[in-house]
Amino acid sequence: MKHVVIGATKGLGLCLTRQLLEAGHQVVAGAIVSSAELEELKAKYPQDLLVLKADVTDEEEMISVAKASAEFLGHIDTVCTVAGVLLDGDRVKLLHECDIAELRRTLDVNTVGPVITAKSFYPYLPDGAKVFTVTSEGVSVFACGTWVPCYGLSKIAATKVSGILNASVSNVDFYSVHPGRMNTDMGRTTAQIEPDEAAAGFVKLMTGETPVSRACWYIDYKGDPMKA
Ligand SMILES: NC(=O)c1ccc[n+]([C@@H]2O[C@H](COP(=O)([O-])OP(=O)(O)OC[C@H]3O[C@@H](n4cnc5c(N)ncnc54)[C@H](OP(=O)(O)O)[C@@H]3O)[C@@H](O)[C@H]2O)c1
Repeated sequence: MKHVVIGATKGLGLCLTRQLLEAGHQVVAGAIVSSAELEELKAKYPQDLLVLKADVTDEEEMISVAKASAEFLGHIDTVCTVAGVLLDGDRVKLLHECDIAELRRTLDVNTVGPVITAKSFYPYLPDGAKVFTVTSEGVSVFACGTWVPCYGLSKIAATKVSGILNASVSNVDFYSVHPGRMNTDMGRTTAQIEPDEAAAGFVKLMTGETPVSRACWYIDYKGDPMKA
């Protein structure tokens, strides 16, 4: 099958790219700047991996990425937007103290990014394609914690992006997926699983081994429904 992973330099995105290649799939990996690990994969799978410069906040660039992905892959079965940020100030400040520049950046990457990805790729997606956006847990209007408030706001909105897109179009299915609390640069302090475990779940979601239905579009990496 043919997949696109946006945000593939490290963490979940890198593990997912590696596991898809190991399972014999073709992958376009998007990264702001490629990493040594991605370059190693490119050397190992020259026919099956294309690494493209892809900043999810840059609409013009993402439109080019979508076009180049379609040309390389022929057709696109799935797109997975993994890209996300949790900025330093957000780990220590309450919402009324937050740095507005950090809030704007967080919303730009985590919320606007998935919309730009969906908008850029939609013209290239065949009927039945699936688009996965990595969001998070704790997506509730009324359950309000204070930790990482900018990130929390961005992921609530990002989660709803998939629902609104499903209401907007019927030929492509959109999913928001909680990846678990992973031992990555972002999640190290609260980790419960390794990113490879989450990536294995995403591979099953993206290949159809774990069945999914747009009627239940907010799920975890095992395909189980998330509460909102
Ligand atoms: N870790 C957790 O426990 C946890 C829990 C819930 C949800 N998540 C979500 O899971 C996803 C993956 O997280 P992770 O833990 O693997 O984080 P990570 O190790 O920090 O990796 C984040 C990835 O996103 C990329 N990225 C950041 N901004 C980008 C942009 N503007 N355009 C394209 N790529 C961009 C980073 O690229 P660079 O290397 O260039 O920065 C990196 O490849 C994120 O969406 C995160 O919010 C994580």
